[in-house]
Amino acid sequence: MPGNKFVGEFHKDSSYNHQDYELNFNVGLSNYLGQASLKTEERPNSNKFIYLECPYGETFCFDHINCMHGSEENLSDETMVSFDFRLALGKFYFESNAESIGMNTKFNKGYYFSSNIINSIN
Ligand SMILES: [Fe+2]
Repeated sequence: MPGNKFVGEFHKDSSYNHQDYELNFNVGLSNYLGQASLKTEERPNSNKFIYLECPYGETFCFDHINCMHGSEENLSDETMVSFDFRLALGKFYFESNAESIGMNTKFNKGYYFSSNIINSIN
């Protein structure tokens, strides 16, 4: 919303126990532009930040595991609307005792991730 940040703090998702087998996708719905958009390092540990804009209907994926990312205050007068989802790549997935801090559950099938497994996309 105007005057707010949509990401609470700058972070790497690895700091919150997320694993390298995850892909994170963002889908823009409204005003995912400029300073209201996601701000991320260009490369892990580069300390060079860019805004990733995502106009309506577009999707992007970025290295949420290893790149610092967050958001600045939305200085526009429009609310930014988006959703994001994560996929665990079956080829690289492994069960562990790692837990999601935000959802207070393990990153295992049937918990943080659905129990459906897609091993390949044709
Ligand atoms: Fe994150």
